[in-house]
Amino acid sequence: MQKPLNIGMIGYGFMGRAHSNAYCKVGHFFDLPYRLVLKAVCARNADKVRAFANQWGYESVETDWRKLVERQDIDLIDICTPNNTHAEIAIAAAEHGKMVLCEKPLAMNAAEGRRMVEAVEKAGVPNMVWYNYRRVPAVTFAKQLVDEGRLGRVFHYRAKFLQDWTINPELPQGGTALWRLDVAAAGSGVTGDLLAHCIDTALWLNGPLTTVSAMTETFVKERKHNLTGKIEKVGIDDACTFMGRFQNGSLASFESTRYARGHKALYTFEINGEHASIFWDLHDLHRLQFFDHRDAGVVRGWRSIHVTDGEHPYMGKWWVPGLAIGYEHSFVHQVADFLDGVAKGKPAQPDFRDALRTQYVCDAVLESARTGQWVNVTLI
Ligand SMILES: NC(=O)c1ccc[n+]([C@@H]2O[C@H](COP(=O)([O-])OP(=O)(O)OC[C@H]3O[C@@H](n4cnc5c(N)ncnc54)[C@H](O)[C@@H]3O)[C@@H](O)[C@H]2O)c1
Repeated sequence: MQKPLNIGMIGYGFMGRAHSNAYCKVGHFFDLPYRLVLKAVCARNADKVRAFANQWGYESVETDWRKLVERQDIDLIDICTPNNTHAEIAIAAAEHGKMVLCEKPLAMNAAEGRRMVEAVEKAGVPNMVWYNYRRVPAVTFAKQLVDEGRLGRVFHYRAKFLQDWTINPELPQGGTALWRLDVAAAGSGVTGDLLAHCIDTALWLNGPLTTVSAMTETFVKERKHNLTGKIEKVGIDDACTFMGRFQNGSLASFESTRYARGHKALYTFEINGEHASIFWDLHDLHRLQFFDHRDAGVVRGWRSIHVTDGEHPYMGKWWVPGLAIGYEHSFVHQVADFLDGVAKGKPAQPDFRDALRTQYVCDAVLESARTGQWVNVTLI
């Protein structure tokens, strides 16, 4: 018999839709220990949040997250709001004994993130951060290949995340959808937004990064602010490139920008090991490129593995071999793993503590860009 688990979600934008979709689908494809109930959704505009609740099937609405967090009939708080709200909501939710799912990046900076980790650990509530790319089947498959030791000693880890949507200097900063350009709401620019994903995947696949040297640039220095109506200084990094060293001796090279004309969400990573290399590209997310030097010379070459076989991670839950799934399924997988972890008392990763590691790297990257010095990453 499945126990009901009542969800209270805050924010109904891009991630509010991605998570709601996952909650609706997951029980149809995975055997879950819980029956998810879309109990309440919260956002500040009463009409809009009611319309969202009707469209997605939420039973009730709130316009103040504090009320939602206090409700006795809510088991889990899901934070899908801009970065500057994560800490306050997560800490209050933990204090009220709720499970907490939080969008990435965990916090505005590591100091805030530490307080969030303390709060969930003190309360003993299950928690997780939505670094969803770990659960794209081809990426999970890459982790399997790494864990099986197929790459041998790793020499290089290379990642980039390129977009082009902020090149127009007339684009304002702040407010709905554009809060990402406002440092007060986002904490940082591409570092906390895009590179955080690359860093999370890298730490998962290749272990801790110990030291970094970074440069950032803000190409458009002033933009109109949607909330004040005034031209204001832009405080975010538009682009960030950094190099670094991993604890396993390999070298790191990371790049992210919102000024790479023609690229919409080009997240790629490549790992070069002594025996083999792996390459993945979000624009072709169901394929993993794999080169194994131990293949016989005459047939040696890059294999493009279509990660859709029943033996591949998660794929046995979906269609038949050869049929691809998409971006939204990574969120479905994350919910399934989270609930499985809660039921078994084995927390799914990344939990808040694990996501704090990424936050420490982001802080070190930004400090290095500011000071022009190499910066050691705080390891936990
Ligand atoms: N995992 C991923 O791949 C991924 C992708 C996009 C965004 N994100 C993260 O998700 C979070 C939200 O991003 P988004 O793209 O969904 O943003 P969005 O602008 O589309 O939606 C934000 C939502 O938060 C609501 N909101 C803002 N302040 C609020 C408050 N004080 N109380 C209640 N509601 C409030 C807004 O009304 C809106 O519904 C961010 O932390 C972002 O970094 C993660």
